[in-house]
Amino acid sequence: MKRLQVQVCACNKCIMMGAMEIMDSIESLKKLKVQLRLQTQIDVAMDKKICGCLSDDASPVVVINEEVIERATPEIVMEKIVKLTQRK
Ligand code: FES
Repeated sequence: MKRLQVQVCACNKCIMMGAMEIMDSIESLKKLKVQLRLQTQIDVAMDKKICGCLSDDASPVVVINEEVIERATPEIVMEKIVKLTQRK
């Protein structure tokens, strides 16, 4: 089974900019995994300072299998996860 490592930044700025909504969306997707037939293990964690704060307007930051997504939204993150789960 494929594995996806998803990290959501939990710094104050990312939380203020919507990190919790992204986290909720990922948790919902994990619950729907069976119905969507996603053959992938999704490991999700919240970590502080995952981005190194390279730019001021990067928040919220999500890292999926080492790919950094700046200014992430639940829609962008869900789309990326679904795409990666479907790739062979
Ligand atoms: S640690 Fe969250 S944006 Fe840099």
